[in-house]
Amino acid sequence: MTTLELMEQNALSELQSASTGEELEAWHQEYLGRKGALTLFMRTIGSLPADERPLVGQAANSLRQVLEQRHQEREAAVKLTELAVGLERESVDVTLPGRRPVTGRLHPITQTLRRIYAIFGEMGFQVFDAREVETDLYNFGLLNMPPHHPARDMWDTFYISDTALLRTHTSPGQIHAMRAYYPQPIRVILPGRCHRYEQVTARSDSMFYQVEGLAVGHGITMADLKGVLGSFTRQLFGPERQMRFRSSYFPFTEPSVEVDMDCTICSGDGCRVCKQSGWVEIGGAGVVHPTVLRNGGYDPEEFSGFAFGMGIERMAMLLHGIDDIRYFYSNDLRFLRQFGRLM
Ligand code: PHE
Repeated sequence: MTTLELMEQNALSELQSASTGEELEAWHQEYLGRKGALTLFMRTIGSLPADERPLVGQAANSLRQVLEQRHQEREAAVKLTELAVGLERESVDVTLPGRRPVTGRLHPITQTLRRIYAIFGEMGFQVFDAREVETDLYNFGLLNMPPHHPARDMWDTFYISDTALLRTHTSPGQIHAMRAYYPQPIRVILPGRCHRYEQVTARSDSMFYQVEGLAVGHGITMADLKGVLGSFTRQLFGPERQMRFRSSYFPFTEPSVEVDMDCTICSGDGCRVCKQSGWVEIGGAGVVHPTVLRNGGYDPEEFSGFAFGMGIERMAMLLHGIDDIRYFYSNDLRFLRQFGRLM
């Protein structure tokens, strides 16, 4: 009995200091395994005097139960601590600032174009796509500028062969649209890139976007043109905007005008952006020339129409107070990231 009591004391105190799964396993072997102290002890019970056997046997059995029980409890406790230690080691400080995902954005010109599409869309204009590499015929000839016509000098041109060129304006799209729509009435806008062989400055680049507009139908007049463009400028730049037509010349419209808007920066008082004039030019326009209508397939005795073309970079500059056109295509992320719209 004394042996058992001693064994219990030692076993329990050793169990208390076992703090890993392996130590617990070793402890189990040491006392309860096939060659463990208690197992060996139980084998000796048979050699005790008969009257002592039941008592010692009972005590040994209950010690086995106690030790198994305590072993299990200790094992559970050790597992919990190991788990806690692991969690502690792998813990994440959720109060740390996160890493911002890098998000793409639409280019400010794309954003401006989409606003323009929405405004003209409400007025019934559909977007019509036309080519960027054009023929001399479409860029000039069919627009009432035969070869050697001096008006061609208004556009400094990148030729890529004797007859092919990078379009200098979106106006050749007028002919494409008319030939596609004839004999139906037309209400389209034609957006796209244009190229001019010009010196690059803060105000003009050799590549830029235009949006052309074309309406062809019965009884269309200059008044319709002015109504549409006035409504457009007020929707894009604000209801207080003023617009004016200045007499001008284009071979493909008659009469022709230059379209001005009062300066968004100084509201007409005069500043650097408007060169102290109070007005900024946003495009050219006019009533479609009879020859152009005819080249598109429409009989000018029956049909009439208006057309306009405006520079998109200029509009984006006025909208956002940008003072140098070269920012748009120099891919400086500090510039591009200021235009937050994703859609
Ligand atoms: N195509 C002209 C330009 O780029 C603008 C314009 C378009 C003028 C349509 C009249 C009608 O200068």
